[in-house]
Amino acid sequence: MSLRKMFFVGVVLAVTVAFSGFSAAGDDIADDVRRACRSCHSLKPVCQELGVRSLAGWKLVVRNMVARGARLTTRSIEPAAEYLAALEPGDPAICE
Ligand code: HEC
Repeated sequence: MSLRKMFFVGVVLAVTVAFSGFSAAGDDIADDVRRACRSCHSLKPVCQELGVRSLAGWKLVVRNMVARGARLTTRSIEPAAEYLAALEPGDPAICE
């Protein structure tokens, strides 16, 4: 294999790894939120506030729900709030 080809293969591998890393992290928090937030009520109240609450507002809600017993680790509170704050109203990940 020529050096050029090896370099190319290396770049493709690095990009693939970086991408799968990112999407895995994204899916994880989405799954965690769906699992944790569905154990007491449906996702309806969560769906209704997509696009309404600010990031600070979601942090408050998520902390409040964790205090009530939602099963999220303390380290997941921030990413969960960021995830929820970034969703569009009616996002199928939560609303369907
Ligand atoms: C341990 C049970 C429990 C879990 C788990 C839970 N909730 Fe709740 N949630 C409640 C109760 C009880 C209410 C209604 C009382 C109230 O409004 O304070 C509520 C109400 C809400 C509301 C309505 C508005 C509000 O502030 O009252 C939202 C939004 C909400 N939950 C979001 C979430 C999210 C997001 C998660 C996941 C991080 C979650 N809940 C997990 C118990 C829970």
